[in-house]
Amino acid sequence: MKVKKIWLITFSPTRTSQHAVEAIASGLPAIPLENIDLTYSDTVAVRRFGADELVVIGVPVYAGRVAPLAVKRLGKLQGDNTPAVIIATYGNRDFEDAMIELKDLALQAAFLPVAACTFIGEHSFSGPATPIAFGRPDSIDLTTAKAFGLKISEKLARLEEPGIVDCPEVPGKRPYKEGMGSLPFTPGLLESRCTQCAACLPICPASAISLESRIEVDRGLCIFCCACIKVCPEDALQIDAEPLKQKRQWLSEHCTERREPELYL
Ligand SMILES: Cc1cc2nc3c(=O)[nH]c(=O)nc-3n(C[C@H](O)[C@H](O)[C@H](O)COP(=O)(O)O)c2cc1C
Repeated sequence: MKVKKIWLITFSPTRTSQHAVEAIASGLPAIPLENIDLTYSDTVAVRRFGADELVVIGVPVYAGRVAPLAVKRLGKLQGDNTPAVIIATYGNRDFEDAMIELKDLALQAAFLPVAACTFIGEHSFSGPATPIAFGRPDSIDLTTAKAFGLKISEKLARLEEPGIVDCPEVPGKRPYKEGMGSLPFTPGLLESRCTQCAACLPICPASAISLESRIEVDRGLCIFCCACIKVCPEDALQIDAEPLKQKRQWLSEHCTERREPELYL
């Protein structure tokens, strides 16, 4: 099957899913390619894709499910028996039902997953004193991703015609495990460190941060993706809620064994 265009579609607050997607794309056929970044705007236009295009969809795992804001934004996209590569990136704990959920979401929108995979990304809660999957995806992961892209290219070349794809089985259970729900926390602000540089404002996928007389994070909007914490040049934004500090500590002590990408073709 000849694909006319490739679309890289991502929701990736701390950019690890984006890296995995780009590395897979580097092994795909060299044809016109465009990015649709769903991270920064709720006003993503409704889009339709044809059977002669390929979409590569990369999202993070939150609480063993697809990140809820990614689900919402992916809902704007509609295929037409469009082949898809689906990628769930998680922080070396577990991806549980996220992969099967992502496959179901793709099928519901008339995308046909021709390949699926999980990659490991540095955990959003990871920090210098509590590293969790630090530096992932690393060069080994990116090499794996590119090689997988090449395998996907071969599979696409073997497909006789658009609309007929054998979708790989992926792990996970239905009904899915319960998702995260909204957390009753936001990152805490250390006012003495904040220079009001506003670097955190545009990086917030939920538009939860405002700056009037001080930086404020809206608890109702914040998804605790930690993008603001990672971008702050002064370390003024921090995980300061006790339950999350404990979770971070637990993750850094218990999720140390290196997990590897899982590839389904
Ligand atoms: C609220 C929240 C929940 C998370 N839940 C999980 C999880 O259940 N399992 C896991 O291994 N990683 C989990 N992570 C870590 C992310 O999946 C991981 O860091 C991912 O690489 C982030 O993707 P991004 O860089 O594209 O934002 C969670 C992160 C956040 C912010």
